[in-house]
Amino acid sequence: MANVDQKIKVRRINFGHENEENRHWFRNNPIMTHFLNSLHTVFPDGERLFMRSVKYFDKEIKNPELKERVKAFIGQEMQHGMQHERFLQALDKMGLDGTKFEEWYAKNAYVSKEDKLSAERILLTPLRWLFGDKAAEKLSLSATAALEHYTATLGEIVLKGEDYYLTGMPENLKQLFLWHAAEEVEHKSVAFDVFVDVAGGNYLERQVGFAFASFFLAYYIGLGWGYYLAKDKEINWAKLPADLMESLPIFGTLLKDAILGGVQYLKPGFHPDQMDNDHLAQALFSRYEAEFSQKSA
Ligand SMILES: [Fe+2]
Ligand SMILES: [Fe+2]
Repeated sequence: MANVDQKIKVRRINFGHENEENRHWFRNNPIMTHFLNSLHTVFPDGERLFMRSVKYFDKEIKNPELKERVKAFIGQEMQHGMQHERFLQALDKMGLDGTKFEEWYAKNAYVSKEDKLSAERILLTPLRWLFGDKAAEKLSLSATAALEHYTATLGEIVLKGEDYYLTGMPENLKQLFLWHAAEEVEHKSVAFDVFVDVAGGNYLERQVGFAFASFFLAYYIGLGWGYYLAKDKEINWAKLPADLMESLPIFGTLLKDAILGGVQYLKPGFHPDQMDNDHLAQALFSRYEAEFSQKSA
């Protein structure tokens, strides 16, 4: 069970980033910009999965503190999804059809009323048949806990390396990513605690969820990245080698740090609170307190 001294807070903020007009808004570099556009597109439905999978076990939570943390976790994820989704308006106006890709991705990846063969349905249906709904929901929650480990790891990387990773980003988008990073660190143990303490998830089940989560996270981010690069008819091909040379060391460092952070999850006795990063999130909240209170919706 996590350290619950620090209460998780839901911060409702509008960054105004949906008005962005610069197509290559990050360092005038389409390779890095479209990677981040893919994150904006993939996050909201991923966060809806997190909310759904944790909510399923909510009625079984006996501990009032955990119940409160779950409520705040759901509130934060809802805000993250809404804020990233807002950016799709900007992408639509640029002719990049962000909403179209998001709709395809939602149907292709997640169970919904209209989907026929989504990745989630294909994975969970045999489990439902063989072991019942609860086993299927437990795997969803295991994947959520693993994805939450990735988002907390990425959050820590961004908060620690803000200058390296975010210099050159429009201020409102930078604040959006920093806010999301800090809140991911703040609620890093909620889904894990529900998975272990409430759903009774064991080490093997945790690793199965981690394997699926790792594969699908990379798969859909990669697809989104490729989609935006292909959609962008204003890429300057002559400048592309220089853009690539600028991107490679940054992606190399990001990948190395993400893998190093990710493998901690393989340790049998791992708990997210072992990651010493709460001070990074708290420092960000204090630093941006004035801006956040002004921007609160
Ligand atoms: Fe989030
Ligand atoms: Fe999260």
